[in-house]
This record gives sequence, C-alpha cells and structure tokens, in this order.
Amino acid sequence: MPWDPDCYLRFADHRTRPGIELLTRIPDLDARRIVDLGCGTGHLTAMLQERWPDAEVAGIDSSVEMIERARRDHPEMTWIVGDVAAWEPDGYTDLVFSNAALHWLDDHEALFRRLRTLLGAGGSLAVQMPDNWNAPTHRIPADILDENDWPEVSRTALMRDRLSPPQNYAHWLQPANVDLWRTTYYQRLTGDDPVWTWVTGSVLRPVLAILNDDERDRFSRLCKERYRASYPMDADGTTTLPFSRLFVVARIP
Ligand SMILES: C[S@@+](CC[C@H](N)C(=O)[O-])C[C@H]1O[C@@H](n2cnc3c(N)ncnc32)[C@H](O)[C@@H]1O
Repeated sequence: MPWDPDCYLRFADHRTRPGIELLTRIPDLDARRIVDLGCGTGHLTAMLQERWPDAEVAGIDSSVEMIERARRDHPEMTWIVGDVAAWEPDGYTDLVFSNAALHWLDDHEALFRRLRTLLGAGGSLAVQMPDNWNAPTHRIPADILDENDWPEVSRTALMRDRLSPPQNYAHWLQPANVDLWRTTYYQRLTGDDPVWTWVTGSVLRPVLAILNDDERDRFSRLCKERYRASYPMDADGTTTLPFSRLFVVARIP
C-alpha cells in the first residue's frame, strides 16, 4: 500500500513535534552536506535547509507519493526516491538526519555502523524512532491477528520491534559523543476512533494492504472495539494516546 501523505499529515502537529525537538538538539556545525533519510513529505527537510541555508540538503524516501509531495511543496530542494538500506552517498555527509523512519528497517547494527562511516570529524547523526512495541497500539492488532483465521501473510506483514536497547546505538556509533533519551508524548487526539486513524497512517499500513475488503472491515471493527477500551475517550471528547520515542544524537569528535 503506498504511503498516503494526507493520511500521514492528519496528525501533523503530533508527528512533527518530535522531529523539531530532534532538530533543536543537533549541535551547531558547519554543515555542507545534509541528508534526511525517510524524509516523507519533506517538511522537516525544509527546516534543515532553513537552519543550514548554505548546505546541500537532500531528502530520500522509498515512497514515490511522499517524494512527489515533497517535490511539489519544495521544488528548489533535492529529492530522491530510494531505499535507505541501499543508499550510498558519494563522499562524506556532515549531518545524517532521520525522523520516524529507521524503525522500518532491519538490522540496526549494520545500519547504524554504516551510517557512522559516512560521517567525518565534526559531523553529526540525529535520529528519532517510535518505541511503543508493547503498547496496546501494537499489541491489539498482533493479538487479533494471532486469534483469528487471517491470511498468514497479514501476520508477517505486521511491523515488529526492530529497536535495540538504547545503549547499543551509542556503542555502534563509536567513536562519538552520544546523547540518548526517550520521551513519552501524551497525545490528546480528537474525533471518533482516533487511535485507529493514527495507526492506519503508520504501523498498520502493511497489514491493511494485504487484507481484502471483508477482512479489512472485520479487522477494523475488532481493533476499534479494543482501542476504545484501552484508550477511552474523555468527557470533553479527547482521547489520550501515550506515545514513546527514542532519540539518538551523535557528534563525531
Ligand atoms: C513515518 S514517515 C516519516 C516521514 C518524515 N521523516 C517525517 O518525520 O515526517 C516514515 C517514512 O519512511 C519512509 N521509509 C520507510 N522505509 C524506508 C526505506 N527502507 N527507505 C526509504 N524510506 C523509507 C516511508 O516511505 C515514510 O515516508
């Protein structure tokens, strides 16, 4: 299923805030080449360009739809359709940035060790990844898929935990000064079934792409019922969704 920029941007404030917080924690550096891995619609890539106006900034994403939107909104910048797992820059990069994308990739040890080799002295890496694998957002669909007669491929399509213990990222990025932290955002969402709407824009996309119409209706009904029980709506109509994210900022000495 292609990424849907409109669906993803429905919660733009909640999704953008961690990226902005990540951006503010990057130390001052003389950046000439910057890359945003899994740049999506490019709104954070554009902020990188604003902070480093003289740098060559490129956004890379495997989704044609996301890159089309980025190119439409910021035609002056460089946009590349490509898989981060296979991406090789020609030469050093001063800043590798990635917000809410690398959790889609396997083998973080190989990935982070490789990203480290792209950075020269004085360079930085700044990454944020959602870290909610045991939360009801993720457990409920996993339980539902385990309990019923769904196609086997829908079970394997469900995103699984690819994150490692935080200290591993610090270890793989050596030598570097590494700042690691985890933040839980208590997101106050509005509307009917907002948790379902949230996950359909991210973690459940691969599963929904596989189910047929009847299966999707059944799956959606079951998920919504359990999400409502786990994340009840307040009297004022808001639903609080706790959402944790891991941040890694490394500065190369
Ligand atoms: C949750 S969005 C984040 C987009 C953007 N960084 C932001 O913060 O708004 C995740 C993005 O990662 C991209 N992505 C996932 N796996 C990828 C891969 N292997 N290579 C490149 N992009 C990937 C998706 O296409 C999607 O645009």
